[in-house]
Amino acid sequence: VHFVGSMLVTLGRPRPPDDLVELLVACHERIHRFLAMAHRLAGADGAAEAELAATAGQVRRYFAESLSQHIADEDLVVSPLLAGRSPALDAALAAMSTDHVEHADAVARLVAVAAALEREPRQIAALGAELAAASAALRGLLEPHLALEERTIIPALRALPEAEQQALRAAMRERRTNALTVPRRGTVAAR
Ligand SMILES: [Fe+2]
Ligand SMILES: [Fe+2]
Repeated sequence: VHFVGSMLVTLGRPRPPDDLVELLVACHERIHRFLAMAHRLAGADGAAEAELAATAGQVRRYFAESLSQHIADEDLVVSPLLAGRSPALDAALAAMSTDHVEHADAVARLVAVAAALEREPRQIAALGAELAAASAALRGLLEPHLALEERTIIPALRALPEAEQQALRAAMRERRTNALTVPRRGTVAAR
């Protein structure tokens, strides 16, 4: 069934952009795309089970894994660097961090229903309504959140000297590399 297949067209994984602001804006575009994908999946009753399961798996992985990487970039790399520069920016950073914590339940709800659909795509009729509700609820939280960041945080980053932007981009790359390598090597358990 083509309409589910077309969901997968957007899933190519190009190399992350080297420019800091571009990287964050690309993350935001992905968040919008995966919210839209979850919404379309919710209404995809009648699509082939394999496609439903595959798309549900993409939605589950995005919100369970990739989104938390973006949030960690903002909380652990962007926030410390921008803190203390102006009261308005500090207020925006505080709102951003509070949002991240407050969104966790809505993210977990969407991940849980996507995981259920991935396991049992034949339950689409029953799970579709819950998926629609979960994705709408998360969209309602994330849209103003992304808008806040794009109005406040992104312009502050854009205003940084080029060298500082590059250092921040490098710190982000390093954070992600460490976040990905430690569990894979099993060093945490070994210690
Ligand atoms: Fe954020
Ligand atoms: Fe963001």
